[in-house]
Amino acid sequence: MTIMEYIHVRDVLDGKHEGKKVHLRGWVHRIRKQTKMTFVLLRDPSGVVQTVIKNSVVSEESYADASKMLIESLIELEGIVRADSRAEGGYEVQVDNFVVLHFAEDFPITENQSTEFLNDNRHLWMRSRKLSNVLKVRDEVFRAAREYLRSEDFYETTCPMFVSTMGEEGADLFEVEYFDRKVFLTQTSQMHLEPQLFAMEKVFILAPSFRGEKSRTRKHLTEFWHLEVEEAWCDHECNIKRQEGLITHMCQSVVNNRPDELAELGVDPKRLLKIKPPFERITYEEAIETCQKAGLDIKWGQDIRTEAEDILTKDRDTFLFVEYYPKEIKSFYMKNNEDDSRTYKNNDLLAPHGYGEIIGASQREDDGDKILENLKRIGDDPKKYEWYIDLRKYGSVEHSGFGVGMDRLITWMLQLEHIRDCVPFPRTVSRIYP
Ligand code: 4AD
Ligand code: MG
Repeated sequence: MTIMEYIHVRDVLDGKHEGKKVHLRGWVHRIRKQTKMTFVLLRDPSGVVQTVIKNSVVSEESYADASKMLIESLIELEGIVRADSRAEGGYEVQVDNFVVLHFAEDFPITENQSTEFLNDNRHLWMRSRKLSNVLKVRDEVFRAAREYLRSEDFYETTCPMFVSTMGEEGADLFEVEYFDRKVFLTQTSQMHLEPQLFAMEKVFILAPSFRGEKSRTRKHLTEFWHLEVEEAWCDHECNIKRQEGLITHMCQSVVNNRPDELAELGVDPKRLLKIKPPFERITYEEAIETCQKAGLDIKWGQDIRTEAEDILTKDRDTFLFVEYYPKEIKSFYMKNNEDDSRTYKNNDLLAPHGYGEIIGASQREDDGDKILENLKRIGDDPKKYEWYIDLRKYGSVEHSGFGVGMDRLITWMLQLEHIRDCVPFPRTVSRIYP
């Protein structure tokens, strides 16, 4: 083959190369064999394009290779681009020369296979148009999160995944053998992120969190990607604005930078463009009243779970803040609410149409004695949190933060059936393979 630069399928489909010779490489997505010609849909990360190999053009040997080739074989080719309204994408490449770099075996994934089978073959299934489009949107959401936070002068940092104390009450911990003792996989990086704001003021981490919840729901993973943000000189109102700014930027970036993927996934970008600050806000108390009026058996002091979330968000197209949850259902590190001492200055953010809680947030308690009081009230051992309470002894600063469940956010963005559908290799109660 002559030495020429490789281009991508997208460049062909953009029409820049009509009538010209191009050099492409990638995988056989589909193949249709006739005696005198073979149509190959060539796939690379940028898309698929129809190519045609004619036995009158290529060598006899090459044509024999084309005839024996199966899908997912790896090829490179040289050919002329022609506009062709019958071809998907409007162009066809007429091949002069081609080489099979690797002959694939029979690909196990065909149409109409069970979800179980597809999940067992996740390592191969991710080549599908659907999954690869989802993963490209996921990339954009991660990129946009970093872009927004950096533009607001946040530092990205890291935290340990092995921890010795629990970060969130109620959420089950995974125990790990750590030489001669037991430690845990972190449920949240918050407690190791807060100390860092004393050095950098505005910090964030994008990392996995682990939860041993046995919930087999469409919203729970045992390992999920958690974007956690901590900000000094920031109270509850400032924290709300930060969440609005971040979520809005992620939604708009996906619309601006992944229009083709959204279109192929059948997602209407208008849904995402509707997300604009200010988001609607209700108090926990109002949320409970709304649920009671809708006939749900729920009392003040109980957590807002799936059924209640559904009631609150079923008719909403935009996000909803629920503020000031009772102390008994939230964590000891949250700031006391002076206007109603039964509650903390916290909020959750609920996604539209029952996609669930996307964010957990609060202003943090900056008074060490109050944290001790909270720990005593819930019967937890202050000794374990000595280092965390230390932070309140040396220049304690007003600060707030939150954690975004990135997988849940993407599940809502793309209206996926199950949270595992947006993760390359999901981990759930029942799945740890491949
Ligand atoms: O509400 P959570 O438990 O809050 C925290 O962990 C805080 N320490 C975060 C912080 O303030 N830095 O978790 C935060 C978010 C939830 O709102 C949800 O979106 C997501 O993490 N999440 C899960 N996502 C998928 N699978 C699970 N099992 C999840 N558990 C929580
Ligand atoms: Mg929560």
